[in-house]
Amino acid sequence: MSQNQAAWLQEKGTALKVGDAPMPTPGPDEMIVENRAIAINPLDWHMQDHGIFVKEWPAILGCDVAGQVYEVGANVTRFEKGDRVVGHTINLVTGKSQDAAFALFSVIPAAKAASLPDKISFVEGAVLPLALETAVTGLSLQKAGTGMMGIPTPALGLPYPPLEPEAQSKIIVVCYGGSSSVGSMATQLATAGGLNVVAIASSRNFELCRTCGASEVYDHADGSLVEKIVKTVRAQGGSFAGIFDAISIPSTYAHDLEILAKLGGGHLACTHPPPENVPDNVKAGMVFGVNDVADAVWETYVTPALESGKLRCLPQPSVVGKGLEYIQEALEKSKAGVSASKLVVEL
Ligand SMILES: NC(=O)c1ccc[n+]([C@@H]2O[C@H](COP(=O)([O-])OP(=O)(O)OC[C@H]3O[C@@H](n4cnc5c(N)ncnc54)[C@H](OP(=O)(O)O)[C@@H]3O)[C@@H](O)[C@H]2O)c1
Repeated sequence: MSQNQAAWLQEKGTALKVGDAPMPTPGPDEMIVENRAIAINPLDWHMQDHGIFVKEWPAILGCDVAGQVYEVGANVTRFEKGDRVVGHTINLVTGKSQDAAFALFSVIPAAKAASLPDKISFVEGAVLPLALETAVTGLSLQKAGTGMMGIPTPALGLPYPPLEPEAQSKIIVVCYGGSSSVGSMATQLATAGGLNVVAIASSRNFELCRTCGASEVYDHADGSLVEKIVKTVRAQGGSFAGIFDAISIPSTYAHDLEILAKLGGGHLACTHPPPENVPDNVKAGMVFGVNDVADAVWETYVTPALESGKLRCLPQPSVVGKGLEYIQEALEKSKAGVSASKLVVEL
């Protein structure tokens, strides 16, 4: 019998400490993954600092795992022991420590996992899960509705990404924060869905945004940003769906609202609570990055799209170290800020 270990958070505002952990048990629709790489999200240090979403102490944090299937629940047919997978741990919703990433073994719902092609390393694969699910939810690649925890899915109402190339749809979406983990994934998925993405990022990261599929990229520090975006959207001649704001802070909201005002309104998908007092022609909503609208993407899109190269593991991973004890350092690096990079710890 293997021994599990985890990076434990004893109480909010303290450093993680590595120690023994119970071996998890999967429910019928879940599986245990022996983690080989985990990725860090800003949410992790928010949870560490403030104890938000934690329902059971001591707690284990983390959303993104890549590794090998160790055990499957009774109803799981898509995976078997030994499979290489990438998956989304959802302790955010369940509140259970065993459903978190910062451990040697984690439980994930089989519906939130995909096989990892051999050509893609665990380190690369680990960059995908929360960003992918947040992007799918924010783009609402299937349909608007109510996702987990009863949180409404903001409806940019965009098409599901096809595996075969399709004609450009003439729908334009602006992605604010195109070099962020969520924004680069949103750009990739929207482009795969045939949309025309206009991205906003620092000029040093324009190339990443273009690699993800953006047709045009503008610098968020450009004093003429709003005018340039509006002019570009108008010049494209398609129908403007709205803005996916992956950053969602006051300065980005100020730009968003100016752009939306000049373009006659549209959707505003936010990664944090949306701005207050939005005009009637703006439909704003906060994305919650654990949402069953993403399950079909996990089940049918991720693996073949990774195989074909249509979906890429971006932004590039940056490995902080090997072993659970490096997670605390990785959290501190994430909190200090990253640019076009995803911090990963190998296990
Ligand atoms: N609601 C949810 O379910 C959910 C899920 C996931 C993430 N989030 C939140 O979404 C946000 C993005 O997450 P992430 O993992 O994608 O972050 P990330 O990859 O760590 O974001 C880093 C990027 O942010 C950009 N950035 C930083 N300050 C900026 C500013 N003032 N204006 C424009 N861009 C700025 C940088 O772009 P440049 O270097 O190009 O300037 C950098 O590449 C975080 O706040 C996170 O907590 C929410």
